[in-house]
Amino acid sequence: MSQLLITGGAGFIGSHTCVILLDAGHDLIVLDDFSNSSAEALVRVAELAGVELGSKRLSLQRADIRQTSALEQLFAAAQSRGCPIEAVVHFAGLKAVGESVQNPLHYWDVNVGGTVSLVKAMQEFGCRTLVFSSSATLYGYPDEVPIKEGAPIQPINPYGHTKAAVERLLNDLAASAPEQWRIACLRYFNPVGAHPSGRIGEDPLGRPNNLFPFVSQVAVGRRPEIEVFGGDWPTADGTCIRDYIHVMDLAEGHRAALSTLLQEPPQVLTLNLGSGHGASVLDVIQAFETACGRPIPHSIQQRRPGDAAITVADPAAAKERLGWSTRRNLHDICRDGWAWQSANPSGYGPGPASA
Ligand code: UD1
Repeated sequence: MSQLLITGGAGFIGSHTCVILLDAGHDLIVLDDFSNSSAEALVRVAELAGVELGSKRLSLQRADIRQTSALEQLFAAAQSRGCPIEAVVHFAGLKAVGESVQNPLHYWDVNVGGTVSLVKAMQEFGCRTLVFSSSATLYGYPDEVPIKEGAPIQPINPYGHTKAAVERLLNDLAASAPEQWRIACLRYFNPVGAHPSGRIGEDPLGRPNNLFPFVSQVAVGRRPEIEVFGGDWPTADGTCIRDYIHVMDLAEGHRAALSTLLQEPPQVLTLNLGSGHGASVLDVIQAFETACGRPIPHSIQQRRPGDAAITVADPAAAKERLGWSTRRNLHDICRDGWAWQSANPSGYGPGPASA
């Protein structure tokens, strides 16, 4: 099996994908700067996959994606060991919408500049297979749901603009040498849940921005209640509807995309990764209450600026192109999310994640 570079492999989606890729037999080099992740996640990835951290199966390089020289050294070292990096799965990036509005330059620098730095190093070392973490955020307020990949790209915040810009860059790059590049842009809907062991999961820095980690932290007693942003949306119960996808399904989607890219002729694959099912904020709270067996205090508050009423994926293209679809539902998501949060009330523990 091949050697892969996983940027941002210690993060939420990266760590779960590492477990799946190790199980599939790949050797992994993880590059992470731990700006929003914990090295402990990789210790646990190694334990779950039954490999040794620091071995040929799973090694770690602490570096910032923007340091092209660090990337070049990493590609060169792999080549000189006789096992060149065959493909890159690129998770490293910033993802907080509000922060991107406050500091757009930083978002463009890390998300776009970081990707430029990465693909430069890839190009130099003849590595031309890339799976990129894109986001359904680039659909903005969708004109139609379920959302197909051909829907207009109309991001409404700097974070979304950086995702759209990277997709554009990767398409331009592929068009310059279409016989060489194998690229997948995977547009995630709402990744949630955790590994069923409860050993790895989402550990946001400080106050969570997203619904799921907030609900889990209320359930475990870290926060008193959850504010539901708006009860007057045009939906059955008045709260927003999203397509929540179990992070293990998402991780399996990466494995499927990678194996399709490696087997088929060079191409750019742009695919939604979602379940195709919508759940409202109140559905999530109720399902989580069932999973944890305790009430989750919540109150209806003002709408949050920038929210769309309903976003749900049309996942048909991923099914057709990758033979992949989600296998886990909201119940599984809440059960596994609770297994993680209840066993790790403070996430990975002391360090940035405990704020
Ligand atoms: C958000 C981002 C999106 C990003 C995604 C990553 C915004 C506007 N969008 O998506 O760009 O790709 O996270 O996962 O930030 N909610 C509450 N109370 C809360 C938190 C959330 O009611 O404390 C509601 C929101 O209004 C929304 C739903 O829960 O209706 C889901 O919110 P969230 O988890 O933040 O995801 P998105 O907004 O869909």
